[in-house]
Amino acid sequence: MNDYQIIFQKRAADYHYAMQQFPEARKYEFDNLFSGINFENNFHLLDVPSGGGYSRNYIPKNKKVTLGDFSEGFAIDEIKLVTPEKLPFESNTFDAVFSLSGMHHLKDVPQFIRECLRVTKTGGCFIFADVKKGTSVDVFLNEFVNTYNSLGHKGDFFQETSFKDFTDIQSCISNCQYNDYPFLFDNVSEMITFFKLFFGLDKATDSIIHEGIKNILGIKTTSKGIEVNWGLLLFQLKKE
Ligand SMILES: C[S@@+](CC[C@H](N)C(=O)[O-])C[C@H]1O[C@@H](n2cnc3c(N)ncnc32)[C@H](O)[C@@H]1O
Repeated sequence: MNDYQIIFQKRAADYHYAMQQFPEARKYEFDNLFSGINFENNFHLLDVPSGGGYSRNYIPKNKKVTLGDFSEGFAIDEIKLVTPEKLPFESNTFDAVFSLSGMHHLKDVPQFIRECLRVTKTGGCFIFADVKKGTSVDVFLNEFVNTYNSLGHKGDFFQETSFKDFTDIQSCISNCQYNDYPFLFDNVSEMITFFKLFFGLDKATDSIIHEGIKNILGIKTTSKGIEVNWGLLLFQLKKE
């Protein structure tokens, strides 16, 4: 097992518990990422790495979803254990492939993208969103989480030009843009609990977590509750 397989195996239960306790916290991310997908008749989606399969709550109930993760910590029940270098699916299987915040610990990102495109049907799309290099989210993960999670955090993040030397991948990119997807909570205490579990902040007190979120990411109080600034770089690829 590589380092991040071990780390995610250890982190999976708390991460999943955070998502179950606060299912609306990342609503903007999922809603926005699925807004560009046309869920026509026999639509079949692959979500990889799916974590605990949270995308299911955001796509129509009668649509088929296959879930896969690289970590044994998440690969339970219907979630298949898959390897990013060779996905265990036939070519041209899925109408859309979706990957959220799951690529910044991979050793060979281009190979994973090629695999996602291989299993996408011609005319279908591969959508992924991950952390943009140099943003406050990058600082939060690679500095704050790295300090206060005893397993550490070192992600290789993305920029618009990440694939410029991979012409086969670059030529499939139809759109690349940074989007804000704030996390949403009813109150500060829920926000701290979510962050502690979701990011495994076992070395931080509640007040350190509160200050870190406030100072690095930024918090806004709105009519909907507390919003924490969060944003990702979205890539949309079309398989021609
Ligand atoms: C931040 S979570 C995202 C999960 C889900 N897509 C979501 O948005 O909640 C990252 C996921 O990538 C998987 N993952 C990424 N890199 C990995 C690696 N090198 N080894 C094992 N698992 C990895 C983890 O198992 C985990 O499910």
